[in-house]
Amino acid sequence: MASQQPLCKWRLYFGLQRVTILVLLFICSDVFGQIRYSVPEEMKKGSLIGNVAQDLGLDLNRLRSGRARIVTGENIQYTELKSDKGVLVVNERIDREQLCGEVTPCSFSFEIILENPVELHHITIEVLDVNDHPPVFKKSDIMLDISESANVGARFVLDSAEDPDVGVNGLQNYVLTTNDNFVLKQHVNPDGSKYAEMVLQRQLDREKAPHLSLKLIAVDGGNPQRSGTVNIDINVLDVNDNAPVFNQSVYKASVIENAAIGTNIVTVNATDADSGSNGYITYSMSNVKSNIAELLSIDQVSGALFVAGPIDFEKDKKYELRIDAKDQGGLTDSSKVIIDVIDVNDNAPIINVMSFTSPVSEDSPPGTTIGIINIKDLDSGENGQVSCRIEQNLPFKIKSNLRNYYTFVTDAALDREMVSEYNVTVVATDAGNPPLSTKRVFNLKVSDVNDNAPVFSQSVYNAFITENNSPGVSLLTVKAEDSDENQNARVSYFLENSKFEGSPVSHCVSVNAESGVVHAVRSFDYEQVKHLVFVIKAQDGGSPPLSSNVTVKIIIQDQNDNAPQVLYPVQTGGSLVAEMVPRSADVGYLVTKVVAVDVDSGQNAWLSYKLQKATDRALFEVGLQNGEVRTIRQVTDKDAVKQRLTVIVEDNGQPSRSATVIVNVAVADSFPEVLSEFTDFTHDKEYNENLTFYLVLALAVVSFLFITCVVVIISVKIYRWRQSRILYHSNLPVIPYYPPRYSDTLGTGTLPHVYNYEVCRTTDSRKSDCKFGRAGSQNVLIMDPSSTGTMQRIQSEKSILDEPDSPLELKHQLFEFIALRFSF
Ligand SMILES: *[C@@H]1O[C@H](CO)[C@@H](O)[C@H](O)[C@H]1NC(C)=O
Ligand SMILES: *[C@@H]1O[C@H](CO)[C@@H](O)[C@H](O)[C@H]1NC(C)=O
Repeated sequence: MASQQPLCKWRLYFGLQRVTILVLLFICSDVFGQIRYSVPEEMKKGSLIGNVAQDLGLDLNRLRSGRARIVTGENIQYTELKSDKGVLVVNERIDREQLCGEVTPCSFSFEIILENPVELHHITIEVLDVNDHPPVFKKSDIMLDISESANVGARFVLDSAEDPDVGVNGLQNYVLTTNDNFVLKQHVNPDGSKYAEMVLQRQLDREKAPHLSLKLIAVDGGNPQRSGTVNIDINVLDVNDNAPVFNQSVYKASVIENAAIGTNIVTVNATDADSGSNGYITYSMSNVKSNIAELLSIDQVSGALFVAGPIDFEKDKKYELRIDAKDQGGLTDSSKVIIDVIDVNDNAPIINVMSFTSPVSEDSPPGTTIGIINIKDLDSGENGQVSCRIEQNLPFKIKSNLRNYYTFVTDAALDREMVSEYNVTVVATDAGNPPLSTKRVFNLKVSDVNDNAPVFSQSVYNAFITENNSPGVSLLTVKAEDSDENQNARVSYFLENSKFEGSPVSHCVSVNAESGVVHAVRSFDYEQVKHLVFVIKAQDGGSPPLSSNVTVKIIIQDQNDNAPQVLYPVQTGGSLVAEMVPRSADVGYLVTKVVAVDVDSGQNAWLSYKLQKATDRALFEVGLQNGEVRTIRQVTDKDAVKQRLTVIVEDNGQPSRSATVIVNVAVADSFPEVLSEFTDFTHDKEYNENLTFYLVLALAVVSFLFITCVVVIISVKIYRWRQSRILYHSNLPVIPYYPPRYSDTLGTGTLPHVYNYEVCRTTDSRKSDCKFGRAGSQNVLIMDPSSTGTMQRIQSEKSILDEPDSPLELKHQLFEFIALRFSF
């Protein structure tokens, strides 16, 4: 049938998700019917598209008989005709985006052919878009590197999203997650597509947010609405917009002096908010004084400040320096470092002697200042607190009166004789830990003071001397020691001028002032003096001098220098004495007794008697011990009347001395008998007269010599008196002067010899000599003109004194006379 039918349009909406059927009915009045269906995409297989039979006005039989079928030029059969029901269903998934892409509207067409008769029906199926695609970004992440210095207003175009859906289902809008820095601006391309860009509206700060994570959401207008998201990762690029900053504006630290090189003192730290090289900090010391620069060093990288030189508290107690931190971009910060140096006890005290007196006198009272010392310690605090003491236990002490000044004083009495020298060690110690100390030895000498008297080595001196000694013989040596020194210990010996038996003892002995040798001045006679006691003084040379006394006892020993003396019978010159023996005398008749004495003592005085000669030896005997003369036989008439016996009296000395005595014995019964017999004795008178003559002659000679002597002695006396005045006025040390010559003139003449000698003395040569001589002819005093002042006195008297062994009694009496009047 070819009829032109008005085009009728039916549109049906099934607004539900699953199926939307739009039926358009075109009824064509001319040849064939034309049908148009609208169907949403993505319908399930078998979903009804339209009732074709009804729409074409064909009944089901006709479809069956006409073997209706779909003819299409395409490979894919999207639709299927169900002939039995006359409906058109979805045969294959219809994807609008695949079928048409962006073309809209989207439709496809096919024909339904009927046979018998042939009928051709054109069917157009419009595929309606369904929002089955979300907007999709090509990448899931957008990486952006944006410098933090980017200016406000900078634009960053973002990737667009794509949505294959069309129309309202297509991409409608972009949304950016809220943030502080960016806003989104959307633009439309000439082709109608949309794109977005981010506009910086507030500057970025890498230091606050080095990364920004945003999301860009693209939404479509479908229902339900679909969206696509892309992550925008913004990496904020650093700009050196931050200076380093120290974490402390002032660092305080301390360092021990003498700390080893490399010791860490403090580590400074600065931070830089920038990253990378902009945040890479190097440290340096700035504006340091050169002395500090040598002592300290800083590690550029770590900021560790360490010791680089000798830290000396005594030089610097504190270091102050600035440290700069600098990043690579040249931004800096600086900080102050204050380092206190801690003192270490590395300085020993120093002892300075301000004054020191040596020697010190031994009589200095305790508390005498010997020295002043000053002690310094360079350290401070306890390390510099010094105490001072004396190391040994000595009689000294250290007193502190002023700070750092000490006086060194004696603490006890000193005695040079005990300790003459001290090595005083003064120790100064500080209070550090460990303490340091300094020692100083003071050699202190103690000077002598004459505080010790000489001391004799013996409390009493005894010496023995045999009588008849030579004058000048040395008797003994006294010795006194003085523990003082030098002049104070120079001992001189003097004889204490005491009297001995009426005469000065100096007449008997002398002592050598220097050597202490005691000499006999004269010869001693035991029979006169048995012992001699005197005092010797030892005196030192100090000022004032000190002295001590010692008693010296000289014991004179006997010598057999006296012959026995016969007391009876008396030996008279003229008269004749005879013992009478009667002729009737018996044997053992005691005729007489010879009585003798010996002034010596002991053995020397032990007498024995012997008959030496006798007229008749057979008649008499002499008792050896008692000297008794006895008859040893009966006297007979034949015996002569006159008997003469010579008895020898001997002492027992060595050698022995003897005396003889003549004993006349008359053997007679009557006195006349005796007289007649003894007339022959008278010739002895002649002998006596001769003797008298000699005596008178001798007296004359002696008298002459005596007068000569008197003259000589007087002149000597005057001379000596003048001389002693000279001596007094000289300033020579007073040395006892002993008369040069003594002889034993005092006694009874028991000395057999008289000596004449010279005494030579020197005042300073410490020598003393005695010369003995028997001859001399001068009586002079010689003063040596040289300063040594040698004095020599030679005195000699040529006199009868010099003559030995004068047999005369008169001579002894003369001696006595001279000695009494002119004793020296
Ligand atoms: C003191 O020291 C000196 C020098 O070391 C030494 O010669 C002397 O003998 C010492 N004296 C004493 C009393 O120790
Ligand atoms: C020594 O003796 C003399 C006299 O005999 C006396 O005057 C003197 O004081 C004595 N000296 C001493 C130290 O005893």
